Amino acid sequence: MQLALSTWPEVEDYLRGSDGMIVPIGSVEQHGPNGLIGTDHLDAEFVARGVGDAIGAAVAPTLAYGMSQHHLAFKGSATLRPSTLMLVVRDVVESFALHGFRKFFFINGHGGNVATVTAAFDELYAARSLRAADAPVQCRMTFWSAGERCRKLGEQLYPGANGAHATAAEVSLAQYYQQEHIKHAQMTPKVAAPSSPFFEAADYRRRFPDGRIGSDPSLSTPEHGKLLYEAAVQDMIEAYQAFLAY
Ligand code: NI
Repeated sequence: MQLALSTWPEVEDYLRGSDGMIVPIGSVEQHGPNGLIGTDHLDAEFVARGVGDAIGAAVAPTLAYGMSQHHLAFKGSATLRPSTLMLVVRDVVESFALHGFRKFFFINGHGGNVATVTAAFDELYAARSLRAADAPVQCRMTFWSAGERCRKLGEQLYPGANGAHATAAEVSLAQYYQQEHIKHAQMTPKVAAPSSPFFEAADYRRRFPDGRIGSDPSLSTPEHGKLLYEAAVQDMIEAYQAFLAY
């Protein structure tokens, strides 16, 4: 059940049977020479909607913008400051908690969100522990690609070439979702430099000149994307249900 396509009486009905909600979260940032700027939020949204359609779970509108300061030296990237993203996550969860949602399952597409969103969850819990807020909430965040099926498939499809950013798998999934917008580009070297620590945007650009980290997304295809989609939806159904039962 997509929240954006539902009425308030439908949400009221839903809450009689479940207090769970799935929140897709991603980023607006460069994804190398052939990856779409929206890759992270498109992928998270695609998988989240697949889970929602399969089991009738409420899926919130996508939090498209994320913490992407390190990508800002590439055109088309935008970031929320960590402090802004924490407030966005807090206000969204608090709003839905007011109506009876208690279990918030974030399906994430972007590594740069992890520290900030985890801190935002701690702020939510702290408000309750300090008795500044009442309604108990439980929040969890996982990558759409973190389940066993999906991880194994990524290793099979792209041995040594999936990488850490602009990954072959995430580009494939976005290609399957947005088949009208598949891009092709030459990439040299074929597999980008492996992951190393980085700091701000200019430093990132110096270390990873075409935006990729460790990946060869010229291997990406929408057919791979379909396999990854099916694996990720199954993985996330199990993860969501386990979270609800926890
Ligand atoms: Ni990404």
